[in-house]
Amino acid sequence: MSSTFGTLFRVTTFGESHCKGVGVVVDGCPPQLALEEGDIQQQLDRRRPGQSRLSTDRAESDTVTIYSGVENGRTLGTPIALMVPNKDQRPGDYSDMAAIPRPSHADFTYQSKYGIRASSGGGRSSARETIGRVAAGAIAEKVLRKRYQTEIVAWVHSVGTVDCPPVNEGTIRRELVDRNIVRCPDEGAAQRMADLITDTKNRKDSVGGVVACVCRSVPLGIGEPVFDKLEAMLAHGMLSIPATKGFEIGSGFAGARMHGSAHNDPFVVKEHGLGTKSNNSGGVLGGISSGEPVVFRVAFKPVATIGLAQETVDFDGQPVTLAASGRHDPCVVPRAVPIVESMAALVLLDLALRQEARQ
Ligand SMILES: Cc1cc2nc3c(=O)[nH]c(=O)nc-3n(C[C@H](O)[C@H](O)[C@H](O)COP(=O)(O)O)c2cc1C
Repeated sequence: MSSTFGTLFRVTTFGESHCKGVGVVVDGCPPQLALEEGDIQQQLDRRRPGQSRLSTDRAESDTVTIYSGVENGRTLGTPIALMVPNKDQRPGDYSDMAAIPRPSHADFTYQSKYGIRASSGGGRSSARETIGRVAAGAIAEKVLRKRYQTEIVAWVHSVGTVDCPPVNEGTIRRELVDRNIVRCPDEGAAQRMADLITDTKNRKDSVGGVVACVCRSVPLGIGEPVFDKLEAMLAHGMLSIPATKGFEIGSGFAGARMHGSAHNDPFVVKEHGLGTKSNNSGGVLGGISSGEPVVFRVAFKPVATIGLAQETVDFDGQPVTLAASGRHDPCVVPRAVPIVESMAALVLLDLALRQEARQ
């Protein structure tokens, strides 16, 4: 199993969905950073379940405790251990599913690979694992803001077939994204998305969506060709988030339908030096940040656990009808917004520290 991410800013997440708690150990955080639980709690509150009628009913406050690495409000440069207790555990919710691998969930592959699996809630494959990433990401973001004034903002780009109209990537802020429970900055689209999610929840089904993200003031020159290119590391980080099915940067798949004459980003002189007129490259050239905003999108599937009856077979191959019990998200993208921002922060800070180490 691989639970560690990063080279210089290394994070190791731990915990299953229904054990005593989940968390993360962050190794490589620069010393003397002002840090308190409130810095981390903000993003955890945006990720937590039960925050709106559109998410799972699991009730968790997800209150974080810093166990080490910080003294008198300053980081020591030693490993920072962060822990969040699991409080609303109901392993019994899953007892009727113990013998049945949920279609499109991780039960079958975990059982086949390890010969054992956490008996309830997906264990390590549960989205509760992402608490550790979000907690670590909040620290990474603080370092990035302080050193480079980097700003990372994600939002819901689509839910099912409902799209958000184009967003001004230069000015979009989290306050605008958080104005509604869907986290889509366009109020009209947000309402249509909310209606779709509510209807989906009432029908005991699930629906997918896309999260878009912009990272502004990313220092020029980060990314390690040829295998740890910036977009490769972002894709790695993003596709390690549960339920992700796609990653595209800049023009993405749409770029494949264009000609070079339309797709190229001509250079122009800007305040700080050379920049580009357009940004189809998504802020990355040759795997190295260009100084333009880093813009990417992540596709999330409709989650697997649904209350609607599905025909499948149990672990013994016997036909069964599965109508899943338990509490589940009808659509994960509103909660995935801070997870995407956090993974972006982990990737950017690690690569920025690698660049600094070289210099
Ligand atoms: C924020 C978030 C919440 C999730 N909630 C659920 C859920 O309630 N039910 C479910 O079946 N999967 C949920 N998932 C997805 C599963 O964790 C994921 O589908 C599963 O681990 C299988 O992995 P894969 O989809 O990446 O193949 C959620 C994912 C995220 C990011």
